[in-house]
Amino acid sequence: MDKILQSTFHYGTAFSRNIGWVTETEQEILRNKRIAIAGLGGVGGSHLITLTRLGIGKFNISDLDIFELANFNRQAGAAISHIDRSKVDVMAELARDINTELNLKTFPEGVSKQNLDEFLEDVDLYVDGLDFFALEARKAVFAACAEKGIPAVTAAPLGMGVALLCFLPGKMSFEEYFRLNGQTEDEQLLRFLMGLSPAMLQMSYLVDDSRVDLDNHKGPSTPMACELCAGLAATNALKILLNRGNVIAAPNGLHFDAFRNKFSKTWRPWGNNNWIQRLGIEIVRNKLSENLTMPKVTSEEIILDTPIARILDLARWAPSGDNTQPWRFEILDEHSFLIYANDTRDWCVYDLDGRASQTAVGALLETIQIAASKEGLNVSFNQTEKSSEENPIIEVKLVNAAGEQVTDLLFPFIKIRCTQRRALSGKVLTQSEKEQLEASVGDGFKLIWLEGQSNKWQMAKLLFRNAQIRLTIEEAYKVHKRIIDWNSQFSKDKIPDRAVGLDPFSLKMMRWAMQSWERVTMLNTWFAGTWIPRIQLDLLPAMQCGAHFIIVSDNKLETIDDYISGGRAMQRFWLTSARLGLQFQPEMTPLIFSRYVNESENFTQPFTKNTQAYQQAEKLAVDLEIIVGKKIKGYSVFMGRVGKGRIPISRSIRLSIGELQK
Ligand SMILES: Cc1cc2nc3c(=O)[nH]c(=O)nc-3n(C[C@H](O)[C@H](O)[C@H](O)COP(=O)(O)O)c2cc1C
Repeated sequence: MDKILQSTFHYGTAFSRNIGWVTETEQEILRNKRIAIAGLGGVGGSHLITLTRLGIGKFNISDLDIFELANFNRQAGAAISHIDRSKVDVMAELARDINTELNLKTFPEGVSKQNLDEFLEDVDLYVDGLDFFALEARKAVFAACAEKGIPAVTAAPLGMGVALLCFLPGKMSFEEYFRLNGQTEDEQLLRFLMGLSPAMLQMSYLVDDSRVDLDNHKGPSTPMACELCAGLAATNALKILLNRGNVIAAPNGLHFDAFRNKFSKTWRPWGNNNWIQRLGIEIVRNKLSENLTMPKVTSEEIILDTPIARILDLARWAPSGDNTQPWRFEILDEHSFLIYANDTRDWCVYDLDGRASQTAVGALLETIQIAASKEGLNVSFNQTEKSSEENPIIEVKLVNAAGEQVTDLLFPFIKIRCTQRRALSGKVLTQSEKEQLEASVGDGFKLIWLEGQSNKWQMAKLLFRNAQIRLTIEEAYKVHKRIIDWNSQFSKDKIPDRAVGLDPFSLKMMRWAMQSWERVTMLNTWFAGTWIPRIQLDLLPAMQCGAHFIIVSDNKLETIDDYISGGRAMQRFWLTSARLGLQFQPEMTPLIFSRYVNESENFTQPFTKNTQAYQQAEKLAVDLEIIVGKKIKGYSVFMGRVGKGRIPISRSIRLSIGELQK
């Protein structure tokens, strides 16, 4: 079989479509060249495939690694059938499958000082494919190339772009450019990064900087960057090997970024010793050290091998006020589990009689039901005998659905749904979007829409006044202090400060002020401290959205069950807006403060000891009724805003299943 396949291979035909951009003679020259590639991961694997297709006839390839699942996003040889297999063996097979005549020398032990002479023997060009963090091996290979007069090319994948540097015999060497010797490992990594990309085009769109993990030698990467690298490296390989075209050599370099549509030619005489470069290194050093203090997000790899585990793993993504996740789970058997819910009335002014937590429990139940539909299961919920209003205990039973159970169409949006507190587009919702949202809340609930400039302006003014209450009562200060995760982009059990919606400068001010109530009152009294947050978090977002909405119940909300039902309707509405590609922010505090004053007879004491703020809440309740209508009193489940907009890059995440188990 192999023989038959080999006999069908013919070099001239296989690479004939290169001819035109190279001459027949040049193709023959390429056929007789030997290229060494160290590292066959993201870039190295693509280099080998691209250079093989260019018709290079001989390679020395090295890698000591095996393929694993985490390589799949970018590595040419990463596939299910190659898991746990040596990268060198797999890549040699793939390359030989393209050119059966290939002359390949493999170095499965990787490159080291011991085998460098052999690795670079008869080599016309070295193309770097080493891992970003393999500094020692890289330094050794480049030094040996310089000594032996072998040109060396490095194309680094950066974000969604590529930075290229070529080191040619007789010109600036790798060490003269990067100046790594004698530096600590962290400093070497920083210098290497900055030397590769003095333009640093990629930095502005790194959306999750906690994934840059210098300590564990891990960083984010994209397949697009690896392919760009292969294209740029192979083009320069062609120019060097055929001795035509302009090869840009260090200290000159190129950086192309496909995300930013930017191309930059860089020139750093004296390499990293250049004073502009030193300044750049200093700036990035500071930025990285800031980021490194951020809490790291660890992704847990748990085995979800039972329906209950899979259902709970999704259920935990239900929203709750301030991301408090007021629930724990106890699995009873294969078909049932208990939810131990609680409310946060003992410390949270927004949850004074537990209604906000009960609404969240409703969202949890709805999420469980949607997740169960995927498993072909029906669900029943029953409060147990020991259940109380403050500590509801709900038994969840799963039964096989009779006939074919259809997966709920909201299922894919359970993890996508989230809160966006920043400005949205002012574009009005389409009729179809509104109809789907109205249908989503189901029987027993209706929607009130507040749309158009004039209505939005009314809401903006109301939210602006409401925010003054929020920001000037000590009861709320204590909550904010407890539920905001400072200096973070993601938070497992709080709201990360970057998701609050403030610009970086105001955020810094808030971090400073929130350290004590005295600072907050001082800012409020002397520096109009509430103005900036009220404008940024309430006034502007209220104008910049498609519409404000209120979900109202047909029946008066009185019992815990009424609020749980309301929460279920709210979650279907929120998930439907995610399905429609709309962003969403709850605006619950005006409803909450209004209810506290409207139903004051139900509370043993006012929600705040600040009498001025209490009076403001009384006026606000009247005005809310004027804007929205009488139905607001006693019937309103949830208020918020929706609209087209950007997906938030900072958000609350969740406790793990393990942490949520009782
Ligand atoms: C009952 C309830 C009330 C909420 N009230 C507000 C609110 O007034 N303002 C706000 O910005 N977010 C509010 N949220 C959003 C939560 O803070 C958010 O859902 C939680 O932090 C989890 O984040 P995620 O929605 O991005 O997953 C509320 C959520 C629920 C369930």
